[in-house]
Amino acid sequence: MKAVYVVQHGDADKAFEVRETAKPEPKTGEVLIAVEGFGLNFADIMARKGQYRDAPPLPSVIGYDVVGKVVSTGGEVAHLQPGDRVTAMTRFGGYAEFVATDARAAVKISDTADITEVASLTTQFCTAYYCAAEMVQLFAGDRVVIHSAAGGVGSALLQFALHKGCEVIATTGSSSKVEAIKKAGAHHVIDTSKHAFDKVIMDLTKGEGVDVIFDALGAEFIRKGINCLTAGGRIVCYGAASMSDSNNVFSQLGKAIQFGIYHPAIFMMSSKSLLGVNMLKLADKKPLTILRCLNEVVRLYEAGVFKPMKGKVFSVKDLTEAHRYMEGRKSQGKIVCQW
Ligand SMILES: NC(=O)c1ccc[n+]([C@@H]2O[C@H](COP(=O)([O-])OP(=O)(O)OC[C@H]3O[C@@H](n4cnc5c(N)ncnc54)[C@H](OP(=O)(O)O)[C@@H]3O)[C@@H](O)[C@H]2O)c1
Repeated sequence: MKAVYVVQHGDADKAFEVRETAKPEPKTGEVLIAVEGFGLNFADIMARKGQYRDAPPLPSVIGYDVVGKVVSTGGEVAHLQPGDRVTAMTRFGGYAEFVATDARAAVKISDTADITEVASLTTQFCTAYYCAAEMVQLFAGDRVVIHSAAGGVGSALLQFALHKGCEVIATTGSSSKVEAIKKAGAHHVIDTSKHAFDKVIMDLTKGEGVDVIFDALGAEFIRKGINCLTAGGRIVCYGAASMSDSNNVFSQLGKAIQFGIYHPAIFMMSSKSLLGVNMLKLADKKPLTILRCLNEVVRLYEAGVFKPMKGKVFSVKDLTEAHRYMEGRKSQGKIVCQW
């Protein structure tokens, strides 16, 4: 089978090579999937640049999610059959014609569903669902801040928070996305390229602060965000996109310092919480949590609560262009590469 290998860290035009390799054999509890298309994720960019700690050593096949058909199982798989179309999380290895993955990270989807929509259910919607429904329980009337609300996880969080009856303050660092976020139903939108988000949040809430912040930007967004929480407030940290702009060690160190240094007593005294989410760690240690979330995500998608944006499909031979498109912050729906 063919697979796309990352052969060197750095620019997209030099990083990839398509190679012939052996088709994987599914182990007990795994399914072998013939990949119709693999999804791109922000972590792919970080892995390609050598900034993703958990990524496999080079040469490696990255890729966190695929859509395809189950070819066979390694046994002890009750909920999937050969021939089922699935959307699945892969612990790397997604940039290939075939991939074997834990069956608990795969769910059946309709044969006719749009590939970019269903590709976003596993990583983007599942992450959002875990953050908002399991890590934090949202209640009607909660004031919720969603950073990067036009992105994949951000837009899923926005849909879920509105479904729960929350008041949503959404942010974006790209002025061109403000209107789309308003259209998606956010009550307030902050353009962080023009305004200090923490000041606007405190003005909007008349100094009271907010109940929940979902943050994948990191650095000063976390430190300033904590100051915007009211009592009982929680900040969910699930990414650090603002650190990906530069590979320069001093710039990285500067960003790391901007997160702030905290003593647990500060959180206890102010009744605030800082929560961390890493779906890959959960997939490793708590695969049934992933399956529970995936089932719920597909149910909410089929019920019309989750409405993924239609994304963009590239051919695998245009993978470099697809990476550039994501890096350029142009994408609003899921990017999928089809074989
Ligand atoms: N912890 C986990 O398990 C987990 C799981 C899935 C995703 N994530 C993380 O969640 C974040 C969002 O993922 P996604 O799939 O929703 O990505 P996405 O759709 O590409 O959205 C990412 C958004 O981040 C903002 N951004 C800020 N700084 C950026 C930078 N330097 N380069 C590119 N974008 C930047 C952009 O929004 P604006 O233009 O609006 O500012 C961009 O649209 C990523 O950081 C990803 O690594 C974490």
